[in-house]
Amino acid sequence: MDKIMYAIEVENLTKIYGKGETAVTAIADATFHVKPGELVAILGPSGSGKTTLLTAIGLINEPTHGKVIIDGATVADEGWTPGLDLKRLRREKLGFIFQAHNLIPFLTALENVMIALEINHLSKNEAKGRATELLVSLNLGHRLNNYPTALSGGEAQRVAIARALANKPKVILADEPTAALDTENGKNVMSLLKKLAVDNHSAILVVTHDHRMVEGFDRIFQVNDGRIADEIGS
Ligand SMILES: Nc1ncnc2c1ncn2[C@@H]1O[C@H](COP(=O)(O)OP(=O)(O)OP(=O)(O)O)[C@@H](O)[C@H]1O
Ligand SMILES: [Mg+2]
Repeated sequence: MDKIMYAIEVENLTKIYGKGETAVTAIADATFHVKPGELVAILGPSGSGKTTLLTAIGLINEPTHGKVIIDGATVADEGWTPGLDLKRLRREKLGFIFQAHNLIPFLTALENVMIALEINHLSKNEAKGRATELLVSLNLGHRLNNYPTALSGGEAQRVAIARALANKPKVILADEPTAALDTENGKNVMSLLKKLAVDNHSAILVVTHDHRMVEGFDRIFQVNDGRIADEIGS
C-alpha cells in the first residue's frame, strides 16, 4: 500500500452560507496540506471563518466548492462525495474538541470516554483501561465516577478532550480547546496533543486565540475574512 503523504488536503475550499443577497462567504478558496504528525494552529478574529473551516474538514459542514481529502479519501469534491458513510468516517478518522464540551449528562466522566471506544468495538475492559489512563494523564484520576454536572468547566473540557483522543484518530480538530482551562491545565492539554501528534502520527488543527499555545506549533495559519492570509513559521 502506498504511504499516505498528507492527513488533510484542502484544495480551493469555499463555504458560502445562504443564497442571493444574504449569502455569506465564510471561507474563500482555501488551499493547504497537513502531514501526519503536524501540529497546526489557526489564528484569526471572531467571524473570520475558523469554525467553518474546521467543521468543513470535519465532515460536519458541507463545503460549497473545492476538495477535502482526509487520510487519502476524497470526502468532498464540489459537495460531499456521493455514497460516503460520513458518520463512520468521522468516528474512525477524526477526533473533535469543541468550545462547548458536549458531554453526555447521564454518563460519568469515565463512561463518557469509554463510549467513544466501545462504539469502535473495543471490549468494555479495554475501553475502561484506556479511558482511565487518558483521564489520569489529564489530571482527572479523582473524577472518573463524577457526572458532568459535578465537574468544573475546565474538568468537563478535559473529559471531552480525553474522549476526542480516545481512538487515536488520524486527524484531530480542536476549536479553542483551552479556552476554559487555567494555564497549567492548558499546557497539559497541549503537551498531550503534541505527544499524540508525534507518537500516533496524527495531524492536529487547533483554532486558538491563545498565543502561549502557539509557541510549540509546527505551522500557523492566519485567517482574515474567510481567507488564509499568511502562513507564519512553516
Ligand atoms: N450556519 C450559518 N449560517 C449563516 N452564516 C453563518 C453560519 N455559521 C457561520 N456563519 C457566518 O460565517 C462567518 C464565519 O463564521 P465562523 O463561525 O466560521 O467564524 P469564527 O472565526 O469561528 O468566529 P469565532 O472566533 O467567533 O468563533 C461569520 O460571518 C458568521 O456569521
Ligand atoms: Mg468559531
